[in-house]
Amino acid sequence: MHARVIAATTTAVLGTVALLLPVHDARAGITLRPSVIAHRGASAYAPENTLDAVDKAAALGVRWVENDVQRTKDGELVVIHDDSLRRTTDAEEVFPGRAPWKVRDFTAAEIARLDAGSWFGSAYAGARVPTLKEYLERVEQHHQKLLLEIKNPELYPGVEQQTLELLNNEGWLDRRHRTNRLIVQSFSADSLRTVHELEPAVKTGLLGMPAVADLPRFAVFADLINPSYASLSPAYVSAVHALTGPHGTPVKVFAWTVDDAVTALAVSAYDVDGVITDKPDVVRRALYGY
Ligand code: G3P
Ligand code: CA
Repeated sequence: MHARVIAATTTAVLGTVALLLPVHDARAGITLRPSVIAHRGASAYAPENTLDAVDKAAALGVRWVENDVQRTKDGELVVIHDDSLRRTTDAEEVFPGRAPWKVRDFTAAEIARLDAGSWFGSAYAGARVPTLKEYLERVEQHHQKLLLEIKNPELYPGVEQQTLELLNNEGWLDRRHRTNRLIVQSFSADSLRTVHELEPAVKTGLLGMPAVADLPRFAVFADLINPSYASLSPAYVSAVHALTGPHGTPVKVFAWTVDDAVTALAVSAYDVDGVITDKPDVVRRALYGY
């Protein structure tokens, strides 16, 4: 059935259910399902993957943030989506002649000079590309949960080990964080398998939508399968839920990137466990009424 039809028929029911549900986890200490995850932070309202985007998610009362991790020329882990600095910073102006402005061709000190906010809006002029260390500290300050994406791992040999070491140094691999506050995800199954082998207790999510027949082999090391909502179906979600993940619980589904109420309700009716969104306030209001 088309998502719009499902949405139309489920809106009324879910709207009523929302009124009956306990209020948001931040307000009542109860975790609702599906979780709402701020994609690259609250990236509709602040420049993606910056501390401002984390702060904005926190200000909206959103517990989960998603980010993207890559590595500089001198080996620092930084939070940025593209493998180039061009779209989300002023690298072209600051470093003319350094095309194509790849993250891996710049040192951390060079990247720290860049403005990662002006492209989004003048109110954010001077925002920086955060290091992963800075980012973890801010997420911790806000008592938020982190869906950490290892981006383009093929470009950064050893990035899994390095990321886990930093997470450990920052206190993110203790039982509390591992159980409730951290998921490492990637489009690369090889990278996720490596994370699982290095730190079997860490929860992992495979981005994309593998064929149902292939799901069992991914469930050996992936606790979640995280597809684009556009190609998702209730049958696929059921097939994922039927599997037991590496930590002995059913494999979950976080769907991305859902930015409007109608789609949020439709995807929720598919029984997903999480909705990843640039507009967490819009999705939360649609699902839970506030
Ligand atoms: O978390 C899902 C989503 O982040 C995957 O796509 O390109 O936004 O990293 P992308
Ligand atoms: Ca991402």
